[in-house]
Amino acid sequence: MTEKSKSTCPVATAIIGGAWGDEGKGKVASYEAKNADLVIRSTGGANAGHTVVYNGKKIALHLVPGGIVYPQTTCLIGQGVVVEPEVLFEEIRKLEDFGIPNVRERLKISGRAHIIGSYHKELDEIHEMLKNNPVGTTKRGIGPAYSDKDNRIGIRVYDLLLPPSKLEAKIEEIARVHNILLDKVLLKKINERMLLEEYWRYGKEIKDMVVDADHLVDEFVLAGKKIVVEGAQAYRLDKDFGDYPNVTSSNTVTDGALIGGHLNHKDLKETIVILKAYFSRVGNGPFPTEQPSHIKDGKVVYENGDIHPLSGDVIREFGHEYGATTGRPRRTGWFDAVLVRSCKRALGPDYLCINHLDTLGEIGCELSKIKMCIKYNYQGAVIDYYPDDIELTGEIPKPVYLEFEGGWHITHDMKKFEDLPEMAIDFIREIEEQTGIPVKYIGIGPENEDLIVRENV
Ligand code: IMO
Ligand code: MG
Repeated sequence: MTEKSKSTCPVATAIIGGAWGDEGKGKVASYEAKNADLVIRSTGGANAGHTVVYNGKKIALHLVPGGIVYPQTTCLIGQGVVVEPEVLFEEIRKLEDFGIPNVRERLKISGRAHIIGSYHKELDEIHEMLKNNPVGTTKRGIGPAYSDKDNRIGIRVYDLLLPPSKLEAKIEEIARVHNILLDKVLLKKINERMLLEEYWRYGKEIKDMVVDADHLVDEFVLAGKKIVVEGAQAYRLDKDFGDYPNVTSSNTVTDGALIGGHLNHKDLKETIVILKAYFSRVGNGPFPTEQPSHIKDGKVVYENGDIHPLSGDVIREFGHEYGATTGRPRRTGWFDAVLVRSCKRALGPDYLCINHLDTLGEIGCELSKIKMCIKYNYQGAVIDYYPDDIELTGEIPKPVYLEFEGGWHITHDMKKFEDLPEMAIDFIREIEEQTGIPVKYIGIGPENEDLIVRENV
């Protein structure tokens, strides 16, 4: 068979965050990875946090694709990822300690992925400190590493394998560019000798996992194998589609995930967009359905003897909404169907997954009501899309809510959609009605198995 006549059927399932991250992408990713051949992490770095379950034990991962827990999978860290080697090696060791087989044989790393050095984290701190309106980044060096990539002075995984003299020249160049700011603000410079030794050590440890990822992915695509792309971050954190400047530094939408994962649009079979039944955001930026809470300067503070939780506190505590990467309390609010409607342009969703439907029911019982935003009041008009000019007008859209009285309780024996309480079913049907996107997956608890999959939507 010639190359051209071989199969090029779409084989990839992309799992993409639909709001501001932390939607529980890991749950559907795990479900889809169960029978996958290749699982790819394609964007972001250690700013992402996914939890996977192996033999009943939870493992927090920031870089390695969660699909690693299934022994038949090959896992790839793609070219769009910015890799912090210490975090990567620690995760590999942790996975090996948990008894997961052949981690180093099954984990592949694109030679084109970029490396995050400690200087990127220092620069992240400095940039945040110098900004009038800090983004509230995770301080993992994500922005500075992607700027080095754009500025063509980034160190790639391939560079770690270079002979020392060539790597030394690259490090010397980075030091020249970055030392000006580091020296001025932190009174320190990049220690070139130490960095060279560090990178040389990383090179030795990473060497056997480094691949020509185009070639690797090609083999899987041509053989018609199932590929799962684990997106990181989400629609409104995308550097183009999102709430710039309160975004991350990569394209987190479907096409960004494809590029980062060495795929093209013809490889894409379906896109699953992940959301929670309520919303959350960590870091700064607009959040139309945000509920009042006792978060102040990134901490939960009850002042002047006020001990009463506000609605945002209730949502946060019921949902355990604290950052997996930074531990920061997350801002919380109601489900925003307007935002989800607007994500269609950026994400091209085929299906939605709504996680934490159980949690929302409990929140409703506590607050005696549940709300869903279905329109915005904005600039004196009622609109049904997420406006693009919030920064320009300085006005946060005001939600028009649909209210549901009370809440519901979901138990583990509810295995099918039809088993769910009537109000919970109504809530899901309303999402479908409002957004026009079928809800195929519903998260009803913290474990991987707590997932209802509707095959016939
Ligand atoms: P997962 O994959 C939630 C947010 C940060 C900050 C902004 C920029 O777990 O959904 P960065 O460090 O990327 O420069 O920070 O983006 N952010 C996330 N919020 N979940 C994430 O990842 C995030 N990754 C970045 O809080 O507001
Ligand atoms: Mg997160």
